[in-house]
Amino acid sequence: MLANEITKANLRTMVISFYTKVLEDELVGPFFIDKLGPNLGGQTWGEHLDILTDFWASIYLSDMAYRGSPFAPHLELDGLKRETFERWLKLFFETVDTVYELDIAEQFKNRGTLIAGNFMRNLGL
Ligand code: HEM
Repeated sequence: MLANEITKANLRTMVISFYTKVLEDELVGPFFIDKLGPNLGGQTWGEHLDILTDFWASIYLSDMAYRGSPFAPHLELDGLKRETFERWLKLFFETVDTVYELDIAEQFKNRGTLIAGNFMRNLGL
């Protein structure tokens, strides 16, 4: 059943489902495998999944746990292109559609598109 509200629990489900797809993707997957390895169940990935759940919770639940700097790690990724971001967004859109009802999925898509746009601009892409 699609969720009609955003909770910390369904954010986690969404994040896990998103990175499961990402790891299988030949374009976006390698950037994550280089940094975090191929095993979503491992400790390094566990930390990333926590960070990303907190990141989305800071946006939608005014949860204060996220204290990071979202853009910084992307500066270290060599070889990012517009195409990589477009694929990231495609996978993200597909994921939110499997977790949330239409209006909430739209909110994630708009926000994801906005942030990806900012990242690309900051990276000069
Ligand atoms: C081409 C697209 C992207 C790639 C390949 C990518 C890759 C990565 C990688 C490798 C990390 C670092 C993991 C680590 O070393 O711990 C990271 C962190 C992160 N990414 Fe992305 N990313 C992309 C787009 C985005 C977008 C569009 C968003 C937001 C909507 C986003 C949000 C974040 C956040 C919040 C972090 C954690 C920052 C922190 O440590 O506080 N990423 N990403």
